[in-house]
Amino acid sequence: GVTADEMFAKANTSLTYNDFNIFPGFIDFPVSAVDLTTKLTKEITLRAPLISSPMDTVTEHEMAITMALHGGIGIIHANFPTPADQAAEVLKVKRYKQGFINFPQCIKPDDTVLDLMAIKSLYGFTGTPVTDTGKVGGKLLGLVTSRDVDFIKEKLYKSTRIGEVMVPRERLITGSETLELSDAYNILEGEKKGKLPIVNSNDELVALIARTDLKKSRDFPNSSYDKKGQLMVGAAINTRESSHATVTLLVEAGVDVLVVDSSNGASQYQVDLLQWLKSTYPQVQVIAGNVVTMRQAKLLIDAGADALRIGMGSGSICITQEVMAVGRAQGSAVFQVARYARSRGVPVIADGGIRDVGYITKALGLGASTVMMGGLLAGTTEAPGEYFWGPNGLRLKKYRGMGSIDAMEAHSTSQDRYFTSDDAIKVAQGVTATMRDRGTCHKFLPYLIRGMQHGFQDIGIKSLNEFHSKVYDGTVKFELRSQNAQLEGGVHSLHSYEKPAY
Ligand code: XMP
Repeated sequence: GVTADEMFAKANTSLTYNDFNIFPGFIDFPVSAVDLTTKLTKEITLRAPLISSPMDTVTEHEMAITMALHGGIGIIHANFPTPADQAAEVLKVKRYKQGFINFPQCIKPDDTVLDLMAIKSLYGFTGTPVTDTGKVGGKLLGLVTSRDVDFIKEKLYKSTRIGEVMVPRERLITGSETLELSDAYNILEGEKKGKLPIVNSNDELVALIARTDLKKSRDFPNSSYDKKGQLMVGAAINTRESSHATVTLLVEAGVDVLVVDSSNGASQYQVDLLQWLKSTYPQVQVIAGNVVTMRQAKLLIDAGADALRIGMGSGSICITQEVMAVGRAQGSAVFQVARYARSRGVPVIADGGIRDVGYITKALGLGASTVMMGGLLAGTTEAPGEYFWGPNGLRLKKYRGMGSIDAMEAHSTSQDRYFTSDDAIKVAQGVTATMRDRGTCHKFLPYLIRGMQHGFQDIGIKSLNEFHSKVYDGTVKFELRSQNAQLEGGVHSLHSYEKPAY
């Protein structure tokens, strides 16, 4: 094997994750001893090196909450109708309270039992709050449970209104916003109830507590919390003039880190914005990018970046390299930029091209402190958008590049990322696609984390710090692999196979 330095020198070409393997090391510790603690930025530490990408088919509050619960962080995308909508997503993450269902499916009193059955079959809920708007935030009017509709004959589902069968507000026991989980549990136990709606002083529904959830109340020992004990969250901004006002809203909502979202970070707009951000809001960490060369990295670090996001054209939905003729293979970009940024004390994010857990380990091995994922998370329950059935009975979700025509037409912020705002002729740098249902991130993220720990154990290292030190001092060895070796490294020579579920 060779050192990472030698590998890149020897290849004399651009490399990416698939071009090499890492040599195994000596194992004298269990998988659970591997510590994945890392730096997101100069000031923010995470227990898991995982970030969800600020894309409108990947990260809104639900994804961000789940990422933070599992020790990573989500970056809320900027493609909302207004900056206030984006700030509202940040606030939802900040207000998240473990054990509270913050966004319960609700129903309106004039909806029918058939509508309730549709909710039940989709989400499997047994108690649904009834509000005037049919949404959380509306006035609480009642609660409808299976017990209330069990006796109704199926042929009457369509003609029976929820208002006729629900338990009305005056007979409901509710909790206030300030209620602690332990008190909620006592109320539910004492009253032998399954669901406790939580209301604010205007009697508007703000959350729901379920007894079954409390019983199996999950433990998230590695969650990413801020100093106030709230989950951490990031938000993307662009380099437009109006971003100053957006930043103010995001900061007021409590955002921990801002990501300047640009396909090519080496611009005067970004330098100006970084300088303004660091002088106006020194308490907020700023991730700049994207970059793929040391020169770009130097420009943004000099301007005040607290971390850099690396990648140009390496994402699964990206066509930048084909359309713009510009970019860099992700392995080379990560290695070269990370090495330089390390010398300046700035952590880097390997953004794009992560296809499975082994790719994460390789990205970290090339010097990244965290990885950012789009496609890998886009088919999960927590990604925005509804599932739909595709051909062959596959359950799918939409995933689109932020530089796709689709995303750019949806909102102009996406155009800013690709410098096409004021241009009637749009040149797409991404495609629109579908992803297979991947299930919930509550299973997928622990799988990624455990997978990384196994990879680290195989390499013989116990922590990310140790990994980086041993890559840079040459202890960890790499080897390039031929195209045939790449084929051999994947599944081959089978009639058919099924990929194991995590
Ligand atoms: P993955 O491979 O995780 O990549 O799906 C996600 C990353 O891709 C970038 N991105 C784009 N790049 N055109 C591009 O060239 C696009 O339309 C586009 N949309 C997203 C982005 O860095 C993201 O994190």
